[in-house]
This record gives sequence, structure tokens and C-alpha cells, in this order.
Amino acid sequence: MKSLFDEITLGKIKVKNRLVRSATFEYGGDDSGRYRQNMYDVYEGLAKGGVGLIITGMVGIDENSRVSPYMVKTYDDSFSDGLKKLTEIVHDYGCKIVVQIAHNGAKVPKTDTGLPPMAPSKLADKNYREMSSEDIQSLIGSFTTAAIRCKEAGADGVQIHAAHGYLISQFLSPIFNHRADEYGGAIEKRAKILFDIYNAIRAAVGNDYPIWIKLNSSDLEESGLTFEECQWVCDQLTDMGIDAIEVSGGISITPRSASAQPVRNRQEEGHFYQEANRIAENSKVDIISVGGHRTPELLEEKLNQSNVKAISLCRPFICEPDLVNRWQSGNLEKAKCVSCNKCFAPGELSCKVFPR
Ligand SMILES: Cc1cc2nc3c(=O)[nH]c(=O)nc-3n(C[C@H](O)[C@H](O)[C@H](O)COP(=O)(O)O)c2cc1C
Repeated sequence: MKSLFDEITLGKIKVKNRLVRSATFEYGGDDSGRYRQNMYDVYEGLAKGGVGLIITGMVGIDENSRVSPYMVKTYDDSFSDGLKKLTEIVHDYGCKIVVQIAHNGAKVPKTDTGLPPMAPSKLADKNYREMSSEDIQSLIGSFTTAAIRCKEAGADGVQIHAAHGYLISQFLSPIFNHRADEYGGAIEKRAKILFDIYNAIRAAVGNDYPIWIKLNSSDLEESGLTFEECQWVCDQLTDMGIDAIEVSGGISITPRSASAQPVRNRQEEGHFYQEANRIAENSKVDIISVGGHRTPELLEEKLNQSNVKAISLCRPFICEPDLVNRWQSGNLEKAKCVSCNKCFAPGELSCKVFPR
């Protein structure tokens, strides 16, 4: 019998339970993109609250990559010291930390340099530019440098953000990727940039350092990435040596493709779980399911009916950073979060329904 509180090895990392904080953009940077002081308190609260592992909110890998001026810059010299401090804080509570490295591509409102944002293709009426082969090489280099910095700062691993309609997800999706070169066309080509990035990071950090990925099980839009294509990408990454795959969904261009879906009843809990379950069925790699998980009894039921190894949650931890301790102490009521998405309000990350 699997329990939520089993100690496990997840994507090469020893974790004290099966509960993960999924990446949550915390507006963690000050207006120079350096860790804000209160981030240390946020992470301490989560670690103290019992969660086994925290995936950080996405951090930007270069000056074209950030969706908000408050996104932490991995390319600022202060990054290593900030991450080192964050890592030490969570490790003191026996919690682990994986850094989500990201490029927001076409969703970047303004680059640091003032040049237009970059995307796989230039679509009509959009102000971003199509990436050249030099841009692609530079992107691979920036992801790699960011991963090296995370490793050097002592983080337990990195997660490549390839979901939710940001740059790598844009490459994977026929909605954004209309390229005619080796990076566009069939899924084998649309996924090439991801494979190039993964291979470059692996060569730089070595075989023992955990590299995870977050992927869309599908884009939830007509003519977007399909489940079968996602499954193919997972199979390839498995053969290449990825350590864990977090299965999400939604390219986030309309409400129906939102990555944070409504959770109004038990049926809507774990809305990408069936896909995670299918991927996990024959997978040699650890699979994490994210999306709408709320009730501990259902989580254990799901874990015991599948090969999914861990469950990650985002919005519930904004509302209750100590949720895992609550469950572990025997109060097994479902998470209080009502999935209203008011926590997406720009600025400070907080629950507006149950303020702390
Ligand atoms: C405020 C907020 C910020 C988020 N930031 C990120 C992020 O930085 N990276 C990411 O991959 N997903 C991000 N997500 C999506 C979550 O990680 C998760 O996939 C989604 O919310 C579904 O899980 P949940 O139902 O447990 O909230 C964010 C979601 C919310 C609500």
C-alpha cells in the first residue's frame, strides 16, 4: 500500500513524502530580478509546513525570457547567493528544492533590452520576432548556464518548464510553431529544441544531477499538442535519461486551456491525472501528477491504482502552506483552496479568500 507519507526517491532525489509544491510564480524578484527578502519567509513557511519538495516558481534564464519584471533572474550575479540561502533554509527542515528554469517566449511583455520578444514563429499582428538559429543556440546556452548555476548553488535539481504555453511549449505546439526548418513541422522537429536543451544541460551537469521536466499532456486547444505527441516526447526523454516528468496541461491562451483549471467537485479533482496515469503505466521514469488535487483520500486512492509516484499541488499551498502537516497530523479534510484563481493577481502572491 502506498501512503502519501512514504519516504521515496523521486527523480533521483530522496524525499520525505509524496507531496510536492508545484512551481508557483511568487513575484519572487525585486524590481532588479533579485530574490526579495520575503521569499525566504515564504519558503521557510512551506518547508516548515511539511511538504517534501518545493519546485520554485519559474525563474528567467536570460534577458529575453521574463514574463514579469518581478521574475527572478538566474543571469544576475546575485542569483547564486540568493538560491544558496533559499536552499539552506528548506534543507534545514528536511525539505528538498528543484528550480524551475523558464523562458516565456511570446508571452514576454517586455524584454530587458527593449528588443522585441522572441517566439518560434512570427504570427500575423504580433509584435514578437521569429527566432533565428543564432537565437536558438543562445537559448540552449542560457538554459545550460542557468542549470549549472542551480547545481553550484546546491539546489537538488532543475525542472525545465516545457508546459503552459511558454517558449518550449510554444515550440512543441503547432499553434505557435509554424517553422519550416529543423525546429518546426512534425512533433519530431517541434520537440528538437527541447531535446537539444536537455542534452546540453545533461552534458554540463553530469548524469547524477536530477533534471526534471513539466509538460502539457495536451494543449487543450484544437490543433494544439495532442496526448499522443506528449507520450512520444515522454518516451524520447525517458530514453535520453530525464529523471522525472510532471504531467500538466493547457497552453493557457483561452479560459478552456488554462493551466490552473476550476475544481468545483470531486470529479474535477486531479483533472490531468488520467493522462499522468497512462504515461506512468509503462514508464521507467518517475511521474508526478499535477492539477486540481485536493482530497487526501482520493490522492491515496489514485496513487494506489497507478504507477504515478508523487502528487504536486500549487494553489492549495498558497492558501495553506502547512497543509501537509495538517494531513499528517490526522486532519484529513480536503484542502481549503476553492480554486478561484484570485491568487493570479499581479504583485504579492497570497490567498485572497483565506488571508493569513
Ligand atoms: C499563482 C500561480 C502561479 C503559478 N506559477 C507557475 C509557475 O511559475 N510555473 C509553472 O509551471 N506553473 C505555475 N502555475 C501552475 C501550477 O504549478 C499548477 O500546474 C496549476 O495551478 C494546477 O495545480 P493546482 O490545481 O494544484 O493549483 C501557477 C499557478 C498559479 C495559481
